[in-house]
Amino acid sequence: MQQQPILVLFLALAGITTIVFTYIFVSSKKAAQSEKGMSNPLKKRFWFSLILFVILSIFTTATLPDSPYYLFADETPAKVVHVAARQFTFFLSEKAIDPASPTGEDIELPADELVEFRVTSLDVNHGFAIYNNSNRLITQVQAMPGYVNRLRYKFKEPGQYDILCLEYCGMAHQAMRASFTVK
Ligand code: CUA
Repeated sequence: MQQQPILVLFLALAGITTIVFTYIFVSSKKAAQSEKGMSNPLKKRFWFSLILFVILSIFTTATLPDSPYYLFADETPAKVVHVAARQFTFFLSEKAIDPASPTGEDIELPADELVEFRVTSLDVNHGFAIYNNSNRLITQVQAMPGYVNRLRYKFKEPGQYDILCLEYCGMAHQAMRASFTVK
């Protein structure tokens, strides 16, 4: 469902890029033939910058609200899961995790309901990446020491989901994984 608007956006950007490059190519050719094109380069640069600024502003304004940082911002999560990452494991709990002696538990989440992960790290930077049954990355956030990053998501399909670390964090980084169930 999401692919179509992305394709349209991509084609529009490709079109604009082509127009800009064609314009630059044509105007540079003219300048080489005569001095006319260079009569007021500062004015040209001003208009070029202004148009570029307007185009970039429009695309930023149009795409920023769809950024995953604002996903489900106006909804209350049905479930909150605390996540503490530490070399080389993830602790997941429905209760707050004590950094001094972190413990985790088996997590079961409801399908089609909003879940919020509150992700932090107890040592170095880690990645908190969620993969579905077919090993497809569906969402991710950084796990950073001293910060709690919120990740909101609605799982559509029941099943087992895997968590993998996406930030190189030490010798056993590739073995750093966990999982949870959606029912
Ligand atoms: Cu933790 Cu890589």
